[in-house]
Amino acid sequence: ADKCSQLQAMKVKTQWGEIYADDSENRAPVCVAIFRALFKKDPATKPLFSRVGSDDTNSPIFKAHCLRLLGGLDMTISLLDTPTVLEQTLIHLNEQHLARPGVKRIYFDAMGNVLDEILTLVYPPYDRNAWAPCWSTIVDGISKGL
Ligand code: HEM
Repeated sequence: ADKCSQLQAMKVKTQWGEIYADDSENRAPVCVAIFRALFKKDPATKPLFSRVGSDDTNSPIFKAHCLRLLGGLDMTISLLDTPTVLEQTLIHLNEQHLARPGVKRIYFDAMGNVLDEILTLVYPPYDRNAWAPCWSTIVDGISKGL
């Protein structure tokens, strides 16, 4: 896959800024919708999150988990133009995921597909050609060795 270019990184940062900042009231519901779609696409992912309430995706504990993940994504996207710091952030996130038994690389690809579908629906300016390589940079880092 192509590398996330500076221009694409800028585009993704700008678009993510609009999506994430949009209306903080929508953040948890959209996040939960991403996970519901992921659990549907690949049911093996659901039990991985049982500790944080995946049996009831409307529960505050699951929403809190969801927002931690989204916060992590926000951090990595914000750093797309600062490769040295991005690298360390991805190493840290990679360690956190290596520590969770059962997490596999294919689930990151499934999540990427879900995000692509949802953003296509809810955010018309969504530029898949910019997002695809930059999403790959992020998930390649987080899922290294998984
Ligand atoms: C936890 C980020 C994708 C599985 C977390 C946490 C963050 C995060 C920030 C919280 C870490 C902590 O406080 O310990 C991300 C990002 C992703 C991503 C940015 C995508 C770009 C995935 C995927 C899976 C996964 C695809 C597997 C389906 C987990 C698990 C936990 C976790 C099992 C621990 C939940 C718990 O607290 O019990 N993730 N994650 N993550 N993530 Fe991810």
